[in-house]
Amino acid sequence: MRKQIVAGNWKMNNDLSQTESLITELKKIKKTSTAEVMVAPTFTNLYNAFDALRETDIEVIAQNMHFAANGAYTGEISASMLKSVGIQTVILGHSERREYFNESDAMLAKKVDAALANSMRVIFCFGEVLEDRKSGNHENVVGSQIKNALFHLEADAFKHIVLAYEPVWAIGTGETASPEQAQDMHAFIRKTLADKYGKTVADSVSILYGGSVKPNNAQEIFSKPDVDGGLIGGAALNATDFFAIVNAF
Ligand code: PGA
Repeated sequence: MRKQIVAGNWKMNNDLSQTESLITELKKIKKTSTAEVMVAPTFTNLYNAFDALRETDIEVIAQNMHFAANGAYTGEISASMLKSVGIQTVILGHSERREYFNESDAMLAKKVDAALANSMRVIFCFGEVLEDRKSGNHENVVGSQIKNALFHLEADAFKHIVLAYEPVWAIGTGETASPEQAQDMHAFIRKTLADKYGKTVADSVSILYGGSVKPNNAQEIFSKPDVDGGLIGGAALNATDFFAIVNAF
């Protein structure tokens, strides 16, 4: 049985006191679903968030990390630094990292390796831009993003990898992929994995959908057989909305 996961990506939002208030709100709400819940605050708030959520079943995760262990990489954060403040899971390859910080598939492959070498779990994001969708090239694009960054791995590594399909045209735009579009792509992703690693591995990997998931559309998207959860941006900044999405399972 694949894990169901709902992860909130807070992006570059919330200073320390706003982070504390959001966590206070999150702790008040009762979780009625079996989905694993994660939230990703900014680096400066990771430890406080980790500490505040210790006794709960909300995992605090990071939005990014560098591939090197340490050294002259001004402004960067390593896997071992994340681990040292209690973080076990990292989001890698978000489209905003790819677009604004030029993160390539090759760089992401190194980041994935570094995370796994540090026994971290990875939420690996990818997705096509609107032109690719319009030209019918979306499966090729997604297929190569996955192959280029992940297919050097052994099958066993996929025990520590969660995939997140996030069509770039749906992120923060209010436009979601239809549940059918999400299902079709997730099925394609699972087939891509199965072709390389076999059905058992492919069937065990959780594939999340991200892109304007809201309380009013979560249930329909999550009802699709190959959609195992969501990576939530905007709606994760509001505790009530976020838990409405979590509890949509
Ligand atoms: P959104 O962001 O829910 O605001 O569209 C999703 C994401 O970037 O992970």
